[in-house]
Amino acid sequence: MNGISRLATVITLASLFPLNAHAADSKGAVEVVHWWTSGGEKAAVDVLKAQVEKDGFTWKDGAVAGGGGATAMTVLKSRAVAGNPPGVAQIKGPDIQEWGSTGLLSTDTLKDVSKAENWDGLLSKKVSDTVKYEGDYVAVPVNIHRVNWLWINPQVFKQAGIDKAPTTLEEFYAAGDKLKAAGFIALAHGGQPWQDSTVFEDVVLSVMGTDGYKKALVDLDQKTLSGPEMVKSFAELKKLTGYMDPNRAGRDWNIAAAEVINGKAGMQMMGDWAKSEWTAANKVAGKDYLCVPFPGTEKAFAYNIDSLAVFKLNADRKGDIAAQQDLARVALGKDFQKVFSVNKGSIPVRTDMLGDMSALGFDACAQASAKDFLASDKSGGLQPSMAHNMATSLAVQGAIFDVVTNFMNDKDAAPAKASAQLASAVKAAQ
Ligand code: GAL
Repeated sequence: MNGISRLATVITLASLFPLNAHAADSKGAVEVVHWWTSGGEKAAVDVLKAQVEKDGFTWKDGAVAGGGGATAMTVLKSRAVAGNPPGVAQIKGPDIQEWGSTGLLSTDTLKDVSKAENWDGLLSKKVSDTVKYEGDYVAVPVNIHRVNWLWINPQVFKQAGIDKAPTTLEEFYAAGDKLKAAGFIALAHGGQPWQDSTVFEDVVLSVMGTDGYKKALVDLDQKTLSGPEMVKSFAELKKLTGYMDPNRAGRDWNIAAAEVINGKAGMQMMGDWAKSEWTAANKVAGKDYLCVPFPGTEKAFAYNIDSLAVFKLNADRKGDIAAQQDLARVALGKDFQKVFSVNKGSIPVRTDMLGDMSALGFDACAQASAKDFLASDKSGGLQPSMAHNMATSLAVQGAIFDVVTNFMNDKDAAPAKASAQLASAVKAAQ
């Protein structure tokens, strides 16, 4: 059974239960399920909360801790099955289509607001297609994250005798050797499946290029998944794992980021939500920290678009529906797009802002990200992130996560065996 029918079967049960009606204690209330719980992420989501409250609605925070959102997605599914979904939830990529097919997302709520605010004109087609179900908006996109970044503490580099950011895998390993020799953790990392696969997809992009990445992790081509370039990717992943702290198991991504911020570690491979932690610590891009594309991925942009999906509410919950609409209107507004992304580390999703980043006051990392986003959209380098739910169903993603994490945790694991396992695990999950 594929992911869609699996989710649909489970969710059909939800129709046996009435949707929860609740008394609105203001103009209306909106509960938002999300996983933005690190210091920097919370600062970002608080901006949305404050604006919705200023507009006279009640914000019910449905935060579920756990980077990458796997726990939040489990909670969301069980709430949907129990007939008690929230008004709004963070759902991304192809998963939006799966939820759309259950009939639980609203195809009406965003109609007027998307027309009045000209969303079709503001968003690139790639983005609007992702957040529409059968032609109707069912989610509002809030930002664009780039996944293939390397974060560097230049003070630590200096102390280890490294004078420049690495641009090739060889330079990366050489920097790692120097960091280790100087007593630092070379590569800060949290041993959680989504973080392991974030690193894995960077390595695939570096070794196989954007075409190879697309064939393997987007098109799920069997030959490419088990082919020689994938074997090489696993071999590089193994080498790279040797630069991570052996005590990394279970560590949250923001704790790993803190190791770089506090000068215990030299580098972290992480999407640009990591910047939210640097910002929250009052550090300045280009001075206190460097952001560079992961070596070998300069022409690639692995994108991750956060979006908030809107659930169908009973028609008599007029105030709550108005709250959902207000949140959606705010989320794509110019002011919010700026302050949210400044706090979150991302760039705006509105195309009318991406060409204007320095005038809008965005920092060096955000300016570089927007420039690379626009260039990679033309060159074909713009690719959906597998690790961040943008490329495949969650079932296929889960199969990839298992193979990658098992490989990284087994020091005797063989690259050729892992790529064969990857191909068969993906096939079984499809
Ligand atoms: C990503 C999400 C980001 C960030 C990150 C860490 O999947 O898109 O917004 O929250 O997880 O939790």
